[in-house]
Amino acid sequence: MMQERAFVQMIDEAAEYVRGCCKAAQCELPTTGIVLGSGLGGLAERIAKPLTIPYSTIPHFKQSTATGHKGNLIVGTLGGEPMVAMQGRFHYYEGYSMQEVTMPVRVMAKLGVATLYVSNAAGGMNPAFKVGDLMVITDHINFMPNPLIGANLDDFGVRFPDMTEVYSRRLRQRAHRIAEARGVVLHEGVYVAETGPSYETLAEYRMYSLMGGDAVGMSTTPEVIVARHCGLEVFGISIITNQANDLRDGARNDGDDVVAAAQAATQTLSGLIEAMIADHTNI
Ligand code: HPA
Repeated sequence: MMQERAFVQMIDEAAEYVRGCCKAAQCELPTTGIVLGSGLGGLAERIAKPLTIPYSTIPHFKQSTATGHKGNLIVGTLGGEPMVAMQGRFHYYEGYSMQEVTMPVRVMAKLGVATLYVSNAAGGMNPAFKVGDLMVITDHINFMPNPLIGANLDDFGVRFPDMTEVYSRRLRQRAHRIAEARGVVLHEGVYVAETGPSYETLAEYRMYSLMGGDAVGMSTTPEVIVARHCGLEVFGISIITNQANDLRDGARNDGDDVVAAAQAATQTLSGLIEAMIADHTNI
């Protein structure tokens, strides 16, 4: 019980600090949150009137150590909407606890964020996927520890949150409509999350694929499960950075190739997300 109170207090203190920064800079409190995973890094440059708050200055925030991930909260506007972006996320494989990985999402919820956009780099197991393709996440299979294990944080949500529509149907439809108008090809599929940091064996890729997975990665489900616990609407998208369905010819997985493939798709993906946020039709 004590621990749970202490954690909620840490979240409150972090949110209070960010709220103070926004007030001092006269910027509106965010209603949309974005986790700039691999591939969405370029979105940071599109944020208007950016206020950069380094994680190191925010009480109880950790530092991100992953390649290609910086460590700032950026508050500003995107598509005319007040938003906050996590420039750099925390991965479980870096050694953080699930509470540490997901705390920023709870801070966003405390600030008034109602919608969360999340991107990641993922290995494509669906044979129709090629490197550089985008996959709208329709659902997930989570092989990481559940971030809600432990005393329930009643301030945020219920003990047993529903997970039947984690990824908003409404936002998925919006993504397809906008992508079509822009001539951007969007796949759909199920994201499998495992801890990493080692990539999958060929047998594991085969198993995840047989289980119904289309892409596999090492992030996203912790933040998304916590976002749903807090009642946020969620949109998730993967950049296919390596073909996990075609490794038998001696191809190998390499972290640098994954980062490069994600960066190559960053402009397309950033444009899509910005247009989605700016879109005020109901679907
Ligand atoms: N497996 C796990 N995580 C990943 C992969 C992969 O093949 N590609 C990018 N992130």
